[in-house]
Amino acid sequence: VLALAVGAGVWWLWSDAKVTTAGRTAFTNELAIPPLAESHVDEKTGRRVFDLRMQAGETEFRPGRKTPTWGFNGNYLGPTLRAKRGERVEVRVRNSLDEASTVHWHGMHLPARMDGGPHQMVEPGARWSPNWRIDQPAATLWYHPHPHGKTERHVQRGLAGMFLLDDENSERLALPKRYGVDDLPVVVQDVKFDGDRFDHGHGLMQNIGFLGDRTMVNGTLDPYRVVRDERVRLRLLNASTARTYDFGFADGREVALVGTDGGLLERPVAEDRVRLSPGERAEVVVRMRAGERAVLRGFPLDSGYGDAWQKRFAGGDDSFDVLQLRAARTLRPSPGVPAKLAGQELPDPADAVRERHFELKMSGINGRSMEMDRVDATVTRGTTEVWTVRNENGMPHNFHVHDVQFRVVSVNGARPPAALRGRKDTILVPSGTTMKIALRFDGGPEFADPDTPFMYHCHLLYHEDGGMMGQFVVVDRGGRAGTPKGGGHAG
Ligand code: C2O
Ligand code: CU
Ligand code: CU
Repeated sequence: VLALAVGAGVWWLWSDAKVTTAGRTAFTNELAIPPLAESHVDEKTGRRVFDLRMQAGETEFRPGRKTPTWGFNGNYLGPTLRAKRGERVEVRVRNSLDEASTVHWHGMHLPARMDGGPHQMVEPGARWSPNWRIDQPAATLWYHPHPHGKTERHVQRGLAGMFLLDDENSERLALPKRYGVDDLPVVVQDVKFDGDRFDHGHGLMQNIGFLGDRTMVNGTLDPYRVVRDERVRLRLLNASTARTYDFGFADGREVALVGTDGGLLERPVAEDRVRLSPGERAEVVVRMRAGERAVLRGFPLDSGYGDAWQKRFAGGDDSFDVLQLRAARTLRPSPGVPAKLAGQELPDPADAVRERHFELKMSGINGRSMEMDRVDATVTRGTTEVWTVRNENGMPHNFHVHDVQFRVVSVNGARPPAALRGRKDTILVPSGTTMKIALRFDGGPEFADPDTPFMYHCHLLYHEDGGMMGQFVVVDRGGRAGTPKGGGHAG
């Protein structure tokens, strides 16, 4: 048995070593842009109504080869939902799959019953229509399933989409904002094929989860996009289930980082690398020169990542050419990136009424594995807390909190880097790192719900599925947590 395992390990290392060249690509396919979801305003309720149907199908990622996939309103991924601050939205979700799932609005501030976490299961053939008021700044959010123990598989099959929020300020700002023209959604996933099908195997010793051997953007392999404007905004979403990317341009040019998970930064920050772990987003503006071809790359992770897990598992080279931008021979001039972007709605750690500690381990958080009917933390509506999140586990983890956008207060005791000073809902916590975050649990009376928990978890989905997740409820002052109803199946 041992010899077999060693033999298989050698084969596996060798087979992954070939990835090194697969990371360079020819950019032969025009980048698909997810359509903007249609919506209408219901006269009676005043809500902006969207329809999302989870369905199974086939996708031809490569000519003549059909891969079984899942999607929303289509065969792979989903349309981009878009709404404005102050609007009330309703999403009519219908599950046409043959297994139960959920739809979670990652990054959205909304009552727990509407969150689409593991307690809001939608059975095959059933419908679920959450509604809420958009009450947060313009941002690049996303949606994906969250069935406990199955999230990795449901996301890998293709269930993910963007949810863009606008506000008065973002509509006024001189940033590129024509969707699909100079404002591009960039949904990055790593994939691996086994013949016509996806190969979602983790490989031997692969305990950070699935790592693919090539990347796709918006479901397009080897993608290029022709751009006709001097400045292009990329809304980067790491929709991979385990892989962290250090995004940058192959020629080393700097981009203007203008937004993070929860919205626009106060001012643009010049960066040559933008690191995103699973679930994180960034908005960057890149300046193009007429006629050039610029390649967005995921660079090898090294310094600062804490350890070399991912690199080791990728056979020594984990860089990927992600997307090529082809500039037209003449470009429309774009205004410069504004020096002031947005006011910052960030919690103040000085207001904290309570501190909590979270120790990240693959086996669970604070030594406990997720239980659907156990509430791990009870927070009071309208208060601020400071959470300390620590990883000494020898492997990378990240940390995502539902309902709120938080502020990173410190990283190993120091002031966070510029890219971590804006609104965040997911942070990479490399091994050997302690991060302090401040969170404010705001919201109207409908946010107090002792029986319906929100989640916090590692967004490496294999870890999340394996129990690296906990639950908190929001209650009114003096309130106590109830008992979450097991599956809470919608029907
Ligand atoms: Cu992106 Cu708990 O999720
Ligand atoms: Cu989330
Ligand atoms: Cu993890």
